[in-house]
Amino acid sequence: MSENPRIQKLHDKKAQSRLGGGAERVEAQHKRGKLTARERIDLLLDKGSFREVDAFIVHRTHDFGLEKQKFTGDSVITGWGTINERLIYVYAQDFTVFGGSLGEVHAEKIIKIMDMAMKNGAPIVGLNDSGGARIQEGVVSLAGYGEIFLRNTLASGVIPQISAIMGPCAGGAVYSPALTDFIFMTRNTSYMFVTGPDVVKTVTHEEVSAEDLGGASVHGEKSGVCHVAADSEADTLYLIRKLLGYLPQNNMEDPPFVQTGDDALREEESLDSIIPDEPNKPYDVKEIISLLVDNGQFYEIHEGFAGNIAVGFARLGGHSVGIVANQPAVLAGVLDIDSSEKAGRFVRFCDAFNIPLVTLVDTPGYLPGTNQEHNGVIRNGAKLLYAYCEATVPKLTVITRKAYGGAYLVMSSKHLRGDLNLAWPTAEIAVMGPEGAVNVVMRREMEQAADPAARKAELVAEYREKFANPYVAAERGYIDDVIEPRETRARLINALEMLQNKRDSNPARKHGNIPL
Ligand code: HXC
Repeated sequence: MSENPRIQKLHDKKAQSRLGGGAERVEAQHKRGKLTARERIDLLLDKGSFREVDAFIVHRTHDFGLEKQKFTGDSVITGWGTINERLIYVYAQDFTVFGGSLGEVHAEKIIKIMDMAMKNGAPIVGLNDSGGARIQEGVVSLAGYGEIFLRNTLASGVIPQISAIMGPCAGGAVYSPALTDFIFMTRNTSYMFVTGPDVVKTVTHEEVSAEDLGGASVHGEKSGVCHVAADSEADTLYLIRKLLGYLPQNNMEDPPFVQTGDDALREEESLDSIIPDEPNKPYDVKEIISLLVDNGQFYEIHEGFAGNIAVGFARLGGHSVGIVANQPAVLAGVLDIDSSEKAGRFVRFCDAFNIPLVTLVDTPGYLPGTNQEHNGVIRNGAKLLYAYCEATVPKLTVITRKAYGGAYLVMSSKHLRGDLNLAWPTAEIAVMGPEGAVNVVMRREMEQAADPAARKAELVAEYREKFANPYVAAERGYIDDVIEPRETRARLINALEMLQNKRDSNPARKHGNIPL
């Protein structure tokens, strides 16, 4: 209690604002296994760093009896603070107030800090827990969403934007996250859908649970909407803190350099024998990644989606890098619609935020078949091609095994402005695999042979010897060097340092037209 009545009034008003929707609704939130908006902010930011704005705001609506229901601060908490001592803007929707729904003043609060984040060049994190547009406020709510979508889009590629889904998010509440760079979800308590199960039932007569319609598994594994799924809200917030450690504050800065204590010249002998002798035998590319990067730490994005390509962040000699790697352990590392979209988006994020790209190549090419063709593998596969072509950040490529045909070109080849293209002695760089090639160009010779099967085996061996190696490409300068696998880490770190002042740009234009 303060003796000064004016200061006491201030304390009372702030206390009122901190109550949110009241003890009962807070208890209901906890019973669902969810934290409150304030508890989430406390876990996300460095202790004591949060500075709130607009805690006194109240809605201005008079319809549907809303004038009798006013909550100080309304249904979102906004402000800034730090994560590992770096400035971050944050908003957290408060489900205990009108289900976190977005009305006029809720939108105004978010817009204010989005504008501040843009002006001051710092990331924004949105903690979403909202029933979407506030129904009682009608078109004013829609207008608020429109203003937010516009800002999400204008901020894209300027400041990192991260969304966490921490409850049932419906309608407009999913489209703002969809425009941001990364979406995090919490398993079993968060859902995303444009229309919820009730609407689905009315319109399509389909009965589906919230979890099966838009839970973290659905979006983390099937739709690819969710980039990182975590088991608890605390984990979700921890993973956001960790991700930000790899990113610059904005597109005018380089990502932070961190002394990791891992030896830049460390050789990994085991890499010399990690590629199996049999060309079709799978191996786990993530083992290679963890042997190469600082302290084996790989922050994977989209871990559960399109497993035939692995993407994520790591450090090499303390430098933040984005890694894109074909995964031979899943579908032989083939490129398809989902993997092209996944990697294409990741490459563009890294390029927008000055994060060098390291590409590990072992792919037999694009997946054949009607399913892929009918669903647009041409259009979607072109996204990854476009992304690599347009990227001007340092691009380092290591071909470990197969680099055939279009996939050779797409995966950050020399021809797309690769800065350093290395190959291991096990690399096979050709228009197509030996079997396929022999079937096409030697068919007549095989058919006419006394023993076609034996002749085919001979021809395949000849082809492999002649084309399926790194030296044909190296003779032409398409590969800068063939290296011993054990020296890969040192070579990559050396190249990152060599490329630190790289300058490259694309022609002036309004914007390109990536095949969407
Ligand atoms: C106003 C809302 C609300 C909304 C929830 N509430 N959604 N108030 N506008 N959109 C209120 C409820 O009245 C309730 O108030 C409290 O929030 C908690 O809601 P419950 O339904 O009790 O919670 P729960 O059972 O957990 O269900 C959560 C929910 C459900 C799945 C989000 O409330 C729901 O389906 N809401 C509507 C979703 C929706 O269709 N939104 C409009 C989308 S259109 P009390 O006072 O009882 O605590 C849209 C347009 C933008 O967003 C499009 C842009 C592209």
